[in-house]
Amino acid sequence: MLQNPICLALDTPNVARAQELARLLKPHIGFLKIGMEFFYAHGAAGYEKVAHEGVPIFLDLKLHDIPNTVEQGLRSLMRLNPAPAIVNVHAQGGRAMLEMARKAIPASTKLIAVTVLTSLSDVDCEETGHNLGAAALAEKLAALAHGAGLDGVVCSPQDLPNIRAALPRSFLTVVPGIRPEGTGAQDQKRIATPKAAIAAGADIMVIGRAITGAADPVRAAQEIVASLS
Ligand code: C5P
Repeated sequence: MLQNPICLALDTPNVARAQELARLLKPHIGFLKIGMEFFYAHGAAGYEKVAHEGVPIFLDLKLHDIPNTVEQGLRSLMRLNPAPAIVNVHAQGGRAMLEMARKAIPASTKLIAVTVLTSLSDVDCEETGHNLGAAALAEKLAALAHGAGLDGVVCSPQDLPNIRAALPRSFLTVVPGIRPEGTGAQDQKRIATPKAAIAAGADIMVIGRAITGAADPVRAAQEIVASLS
């Protein structure tokens, strides 16, 4: 297990709030996740303000385009200072895109793949021409990402057993949908407690509202860490 497997999801478009959360929580988390909502609003300058707090960043922009465009996009992102610790692309971009993406970034940045968005049902997959069903498609895309040299995947707690059974243990799993005992599921459907997710093989847990929405976010993060031992 990583020293601190919590990746705090900074789901806010507000730079001051993001900096405040980073400052407050940096002793209690392993990573910060910056997504589209923040990056599209504040770009490199906003990213750098948060990243300078010193917590490694998972830059969750889910690139998906032709191989050359994704390669060039990632090269631009690698000019951020400090560089993100983790970036991601959609596995559905295909093998050539995944291989080009891996070549575009140094090994010091982990490249992970989104397989099937957890918002998609089997019916949604079928409507977009994927008749395998979401779970089987996710497994296939995880194997494709692994074969293309990516470091890991984003997956739900429920996907962990299949991925752990099919791929080497070194393949990184970054897992959202985490809810500590006694907190509400909100809009998440496929959830697990931190302890259960780690036991099932999660390497990094993406956690947002269970920490950012708590009356005392530091205490919430500490309690999550304590619950793992
Ligand atoms: O607040 P909560 O812990 O539900 O936040 C989870 C974070 O993980 C959010 O940033 C959400 O966008 C992200 N995420 C997710 N499910 C996925 C991929 C990412 O919840 N499949």
